[in-house]
Amino acid sequence: MAKSSDLLDQKSHFAFGRNWASYAKLVTDSQVEEAVSSLTRLAGGELTGKRFLDIGCGSGLHALAALRLGAREVVALDIDADSVATTRQLLQAHAAGEHWSVKEASVFSLQPDALGHFDVVYSWGVLHHTGDMYRALNVAASLVRPGGEFIFALYRRTKLCWVWKIEKRWYAGVGRTAQSWIRGAYIRLFSLMMRRDFKSYVANYGQIRGMDFYHDVHDWLGGWPYESISPQEVEQLMRQLGMREVRSFIHPRKELGLFGSGCDEFVYEKVVTP
Ligand SMILES: C[S@@+](CC[C@H](N)C(=O)[O-])C[C@H]1O[C@@H](n2cnc3c(N)ncnc32)[C@H](O)[C@@H]1O
Repeated sequence: MAKSSDLLDQKSHFAFGRNWASYAKLVTDSQVEEAVSSLTRLAGGELTGKRFLDIGCGSGLHALAALRLGAREVVALDIDADSVATTRQLLQAHAAGEHWSVKEASVFSLQPDALGHFDVVYSWGVLHHTGDMYRALNVAASLVRPGGEFIFALYRRTKLCWVWKIEKRWYAGVGRTAQSWIRGAYIRLFSLMMRRDFKSYVANYGQIRGMDFYHDVHDWLGGWPYESISPQEVEQLMRQLGMREVRSFIHPRKELGLFGSGCDEFVYEKVVTP
């Protein structure tokens, strides 16, 4: 693929979609159940009758979870053609005949006039990978109807984010063999740090949103473009956008971010103005 220096252009991005296509082969009922329970926790219950937008749908697993939770319509989109194809396949396999659509689009091209407003806009682990996180947050929030919810997860800012930025840009640009060496080294160091807990951590990793440890390591090491944010900054920004916090899951983290920064999860409601 031709490279681009424009961070908003998918050609400059890590091949997220290829990783999701590989991950999707592992999806069974158990991953779907974990995705449903993770979305239930964030949404605070079912999504019955709601219009749901998934920005940066990746594998499509959480778009499927939204349908399982009763969403009336699900629109899933991603900038990466491989993510789009994978999501379409997953939804065709597990939710044929239900009310969903999948589009190849960047968050920056979305307009409420064309797409309408949504009861729930969901974007998990995406907006920090777009090349302009602040603008992406603005666009995503503009698609929430008054009284609707914006559910999103973003990488926590840590002291070593600048190191990870360099590493990710590099990893995303090297060949597959070099990537597998880097992954091997990271996993070895991680396992040394975890000691005896490593095996059970990997075995139980699916409980985290239905994900897979090895695919998530590849996504973490290569996830370029990369930005991060503190919970305080999220709160400030959301207030400016007319949003009020409903709930958040701010995970206890080490400030250094030696093995990664990890995502905090936020749920905001668009305040209804008289
Ligand atoms: C780390 S994955 C998260 C996937 C999914 N939301 C999940 O939680 O499993 C990030 C996804 O965001 C997509 N993405 C990156 N930039 C985007 C943009 N400008 N517009 C839409 N999607 C984008 C990537 O292609 C990738 O599929």
